[in-house]
Amino acid sequence: MGNTTGISVMGVFCVDTKIIKIDMNSCDFDGKGKEDDRVVEALRDSLKEAGEIIREGGLVAFPTETVYGLGADAMNAEASARIYSAKGRPSDNPLIVHIADVEQVTQIAAEIPRSAQAVMERFWPGPLTIILKKRPEVPKGTTGGLDTVAIRMPSHPVARALIRESGRVIAAPSANTSGRPSPTKAVHVWEDMKGRIPMIIDGGTVGIGIESTILDMTEEAPVILRPGYITREMLEELLGPVTIDPAVAGRQMPVGIRAKAPGMKYRHYAPKGQLVLVEGPEKPVIEKINALTKEKEAQGCRVGVIATDETLPFYDADIRRSIGSRSHPETIAANLYDILRESDALELDYIYSESFFEEGLLDAVMNRMLKAAGYHLITL
Ligand code: TXA
Ligand code: MG
Repeated sequence: MGNTTGISVMGVFCVDTKIIKIDMNSCDFDGKGKEDDRVVEALRDSLKEAGEIIREGGLVAFPTETVYGLGADAMNAEASARIYSAKGRPSDNPLIVHIADVEQVTQIAAEIPRSAQAVMERFWPGPLTIILKKRPEVPKGTTGGLDTVAIRMPSHPVARALIRESGRVIAAPSANTSGRPSPTKAVHVWEDMKGRIPMIIDGGTVGIGIESTILDMTEEAPVILRPGYITREMLEELLGPVTIDPAVAGRQMPVGIRAKAPGMKYRHYAPKGQLVLVEGPEKPVIEKINALTKEKEAQGCRVGVIATDETLPFYDADIRRSIGSRSHPETIAANLYDILRESDALELDYIYSESFFEEGLLDAVMNRMLKAAGYHLITL
């Protein structure tokens, strides 16, 4: 397989990682597929090489509208195994299979219930993953040993162009080292994957910034296994009652319940320092975070504060960042992982953050933040 395999010596990978930069401004797309031909035209040579790597069983990192993915041929168990090895991912944590055209679902799913058909029509392409029963051809090395398979059709035109060019369906987890925040920029992928994979396609900063909603449609009633941009309300409008897996719903660490999405049980998105969330009315929250900052700084710790555009000036910490604006929740989702990664780079010991317990997209943000904080939440 030439130089695309990478040589692993005592766990050290050594491949030249090539970065292909795409000028997203030059491809004026709407994410609905109309402009796909123009994207393919602009990227023909780069995509050819990327498609070849995928067909040979190698790995390519690529942008999607949610986070960057680390892609391989989903029907090739050896290729999937390379994903687990590059990420250091536990082998019982299944991968999402990405498709470019709805017809590809039939290659992967054994049955497509009518309700699933309706969900695909309404929400694809887009940030929604559906779990269905798998066809026997899909290797268990891709599905973490399960008889079900996660399927998503991304709206990002580069993702779809890559899938089409490869002529395959592409298994892709988020392109981070296991346990680190998901990548929302190519530089995040570079930090985690350089020397481990042959190619990164750089499509700039992603639009949404948190991973897709996962909807289990293998049982009678649909269940959300991971909250995301497509909210319960949006799904219920189409499907009627939709439940949320209790393991991902609460504000407390789930005890005695096993998450239905194997990946949700791991301590994901974790910064190296201790993240502590503070919840309550604005003024007491600011006072509490300032008091905690003073206390920890007096002990010689490095402290950072995550605030919002509305509250940033009221914090005393030297290192303070706005995660976005409360009146624009999408900005908070978009900046979350970049801020968590920055807190690692700054070698912070403690990170105190405001909380965003609200319906919709911010609910998905809080799901990620609670996990990143190991459920350290101070309620005032
Ligand atoms: O937005 C996204 O979904 C991104 C982009 C790259 O598409 N991908 C992503 O993949 O977040 P990953 O591997 O980081 O997360 C996949 C989640 C894991 O929690 C995994 O356990 C769950 O999906 N999953 C995959 N297949 C499953 C299955 N058959 N049953 C239950 N959960 C499944
Ligand atoms: Mg992930």
